[in-house]
Amino acid sequence: MGRVLSALQPSGFLHIGNYLGMIEPVLILQEQHENFIFIVDYHAITVPQDPKKLREQILFALAVYLASGIDPQKTTIFQQSAIPQHTELGWILNCVASMGELERMTQFKDKSRNKGEQVSVGLFDYPVLMAADILLYDTNIVPVGEDQKQHVELTRNIAQRFNQRFGTTFTLPKPEIRTHGARIMGLDHPEKKMSKSAENPKNYISLLDDESAIQQKIMSAVTDSGKEIIYDQNSPGLANLMTIYSLITQKTFEQIQEEFEGKGYGDFKKQLAQALIIFLHPLQEKIHLYLKNEDELKRILHEGSLRAQDIAEKKMKQIRKKIGVTL
Ligand code: TYM
Repeated sequence: MGRVLSALQPSGFLHIGNYLGMIEPVLILQEQHENFIFIVDYHAITVPQDPKKLREQILFALAVYLASGIDPQKTTIFQQSAIPQHTELGWILNCVASMGELERMTQFKDKSRNKGEQVSVGLFDYPVLMAADILLYDTNIVPVGEDQKQHVELTRNIAQRFNQRFGTTFTLPKPEIRTHGARIMGLDHPEKKMSKSAENPKNYISLLDDESAIQQKIMSAVTDSGKEIIYDQNSPGLANLMTIYSLITQKTFEQIQEEFEGKGYGDFKKQLAQALIIFLHPLQEKIHLYLKNEDELKRILHEGSLRAQDIAEKKMKQIRKKIGVTL
């Protein structure tokens, strides 16, 4: 039994890509492992956030976890900022990580493009805080979407360097990336991943989208000019929609191809929109129910943070000793 840990940022609109790429894999692993899942509010502030909205988004992210079936009895759920050891270790790892390796992070390159000197130091340093998040808990498995793989690999490199310099301290984590669903593409641009911060709402299916939004977004999703419903990587638009359909209905691509034999894109899209409505409806009801009880949400976070804090402080004691600051 290894330790599983993952997190998401409370920013933008949580979407079906976040659910299929990270939350569902965590749910599957929850049954066999010791789990940690949290809300990385200090990662969210690497780009400007409205404080009032940020507070709401933290509670919303928690409601999504709980509504999805993440069980606080089996999984330690908490808020990153409640455990100051994350930022403390982040600083120490800053002194182990190199500028060169951070400069190679593709997410930083994407997010900082055209922003010139206005980019925050935090955005550049973000993967080091993520490394601290992971290493603090001796994590074995990190279920993430494809876009976070490079950050988990960087975490391994930082951990290895630290271990060589100061003696074995950190467990080397492995990213867990599902074969299908780890990179759900944007509905408006199927060659780019679906993104919380996309400007066009037609890029994503938000977990809170209502029936008519889902229908409109799916019907206008960009597909190539083919006719048949056949899974083909060279038709990224259709392949993406088929991946979503396959994951939410648990049908294989062969079954989907059979289901839509002799039918066209329009029929398939209508059916996909319907399947998404059916899939999201119970989740949305539960999210709203959890959001009504803020005290209960805060209680869950508080209990989770007590457990997390205990483990994090034990680890920090070892680390402080290793680097020579404990007198
Ligand atoms: P974040 O908040 O951007 O995304 C949360 C999770 O959703 C996955 N994801 C996707 N999966 C499939 N298709 C997509 N289009 C898609 N978009 C996002 C992400 O890969 C991620 O797993 N840096 C992380 C949060 C983080 C973290 C950690 C994760 C901070 N510390 C420690 C694991 C362990 C992030 O910004 O994820």
